[in-house]
Amino acid sequence: MTAKRTLPGRVLLVGGGGREHALARAMVTSPLCEALYCAPGNAGIAEVAHCVPIGAEDVDGIVRFAKEENIAFVVVGPEGPLVLGLVDALEAAGVPAFGPDRKAARLEGSKGFMKDICAKYGVPTAAYARFQDVEAAKAYLRTQGAPIVIKADGLAAGKGVTVARTLAEAEAAIEEALVGDRFGAAGRDIVIEELLEGEEASFFALVDGEAVVPMIAAQDHKAVGDGDTGPNTGGMGAYSPASVVTAALASEIMERIFLPTARGMVAEGCSFRGVLFAGLMIGKGGVKLLEFNIRFGDPECQVLMARLESDLLAALVAAQEGRLDEVAFRWRKEAALCVVMAAKGYPGAYEKGTPIQGIAEAETLPDVVVYHAGTKAEENRLLAAGGRVLGVTALGETIEAAQRLAYEAVDRIDWPDGFCRRDIGWRAVGR
Ligand code: AMP
Ligand code: GLY
Repeated sequence: MTAKRTLPGRVLLVGGGGREHALARAMVTSPLCEALYCAPGNAGIAEVAHCVPIGAEDVDGIVRFAKEENIAFVVVGPEGPLVLGLVDALEAAGVPAFGPDRKAARLEGSKGFMKDICAKYGVPTAAYARFQDVEAAKAYLRTQGAPIVIKADGLAAGKGVTVARTLAEAEAAIEEALVGDRFGAAGRDIVIEELLEGEEASFFALVDGEAVVPMIAAQDHKAVGDGDTGPNTGGMGAYSPASVVTAALASEIMERIFLPTARGMVAEGCSFRGVLFAGLMIGKGGVKLLEFNIRFGDPECQVLMARLESDLLAALVAAQEGRLDEVAFRWRKEAALCVVMAAKGYPGAYEKGTPIQGIAEAETLPDVVVYHAGTKAEENRLLAAGGRVLGVTALGETIEAAQRLAYEAVDRIDWPDGFCRRDIGWRAVGR
């Protein structure tokens, strides 16, 4: 007797950024996907899926839609709805969904929870302490000195981390979170941790309970300006492979980080199922975990999907159904590089609704895909509708070749109100 399989059937993707456009393009080609829906999607996703105007965090709206439209499988892109319990609500309604439930989502939703799991199960991370009381936090700070890192416990839209170079800066960050309520409830608990030095990389794996299937590594560029200057953003570009993550290091990352975490989550009664994204610091003392995310990275997902040869949807369904033993990913040998184009002013205030042209011209280049992040279509025009707007992604024999092609594509896009970094991939190109 063969087990009942969820798909083929209708698939709903939740989210509307560049990551989701990359996931949508990968999933729609699967023989398992009879029709693809996306809530809420964007103008690029609308070319491959039926977009429905339901917000990614509208849990009740998504569950209702999934039932009414007879959706067979839901894939959740962003962390927000996962932390809110969207997967719990869908499964309670009988709709299979890919992503961690609310309890497992704490690996990203609470930095203190993540640190406690790492401490208990021997996962290498920065030394830390957790605080709610401002005086206790400052007393600890004085014993540690600067530089040091202060983090709001909860989700803070990428703004909850302060890398403090001086004690005064650290004190100010503690005060802002615990007294000033800068992050609301998300910052009423904080983690103070040791500053780690080295080179950052991201590594992804599918997890179902104790089973872990590695994907690949990528590197992101968080700072807004060339040469890694200026404020941090959600990510201004990414590339893969990341040569700092050698095959030997990838096995070490599996053995020392992913496997003990997966086992620990099972032991704690909050088994993790979904994609687990480790933000790593590779330094003199070896590899350490900076953070876990419970979803694909954005824009890391864009380069992962550009390199993926296997059926993504089949792998996500296998993970959800507890059949990860059937999954082995195949990747293109070529490198992929994604340049994010953002609205001028981002990550500060920026204008919305400015017109964009030239995407079709950019995509006539071979091995170039322009993923949409914040876009909308209006009367046959494409308009910017967010901070990060496009992810211009190219494949090449080497990172240098992918970089050259990605910027050739960027230069075909006519968007006077946008900008991008001109040095995505610099570390890899310089090596
Ligand atoms: P997180 O939201 O925890 O990923 O932190 C955002 C960014 O802050 C990371 O990508 C790092 O660049 C930096 N960061 C976080 N924790 C540390 C740490 N312990 N040492 C050095 N940099 C850190
Ligand atoms: N690009 C970093 C992230 O998605 O968290």
